Amino acid sequence: MIALGNDHTGLEMKRWVIEVLDELGLAYEDLGTNEAASCDYPVAGERVARAVAQGRCELGIAICGTGIGIGLAANKVQGIRCAMVSEPYSAMMARRHNDANMISIGARVLGEETAKMIVRTFLTGSFEGGRHQRRVDQIGDIERREHGQ
Ligand code: RB5
Repeated sequence: MIALGNDHTGLEMKRWVIEVLDELGLAYEDLGTNEAASCDYPVAGERVARAVAQGRCELGIAICGTGIGIGLAANKVQGIRCAMVSEPYSAMMARRHNDANMISIGARVLGEETAKMIVRTFLTGSFEGGRHQRRVDQIGDIERREHGQ
């Protein structure tokens, strides 16, 4: 299950993302707005992040105008590694090296084909482990220290 979320800027891009999910045969949970009315990106960012952090969804995709605000919000949820990406190479490496469990993308930044390529790359990639595991663990250590754990 893939968690999807967006603010008002991301309605069209969410449709493109859903086309890729359908093409890959992946089920999704839509946690974003479906209204054109202006809304606040942290709300959707937190919803997607919690669905992933709680294990209800394996991966998350979040959309706002730039992909930045919603990604910043998502990364405040413990256990989330959300990569803010605007090209496929970073989307691929976010999985391979950073074990990213979310990406955020910008509806005002990307066109349809680049967005779809990013989403496809992210969803079909996998973590390489090895030395990258140690570094991802170190990110988790920072997070636990930050939470006094
Ligand atoms: C909304 O205008 C815009 O600020 C939001 O979608 C996002 O780009 C924030 O980072």
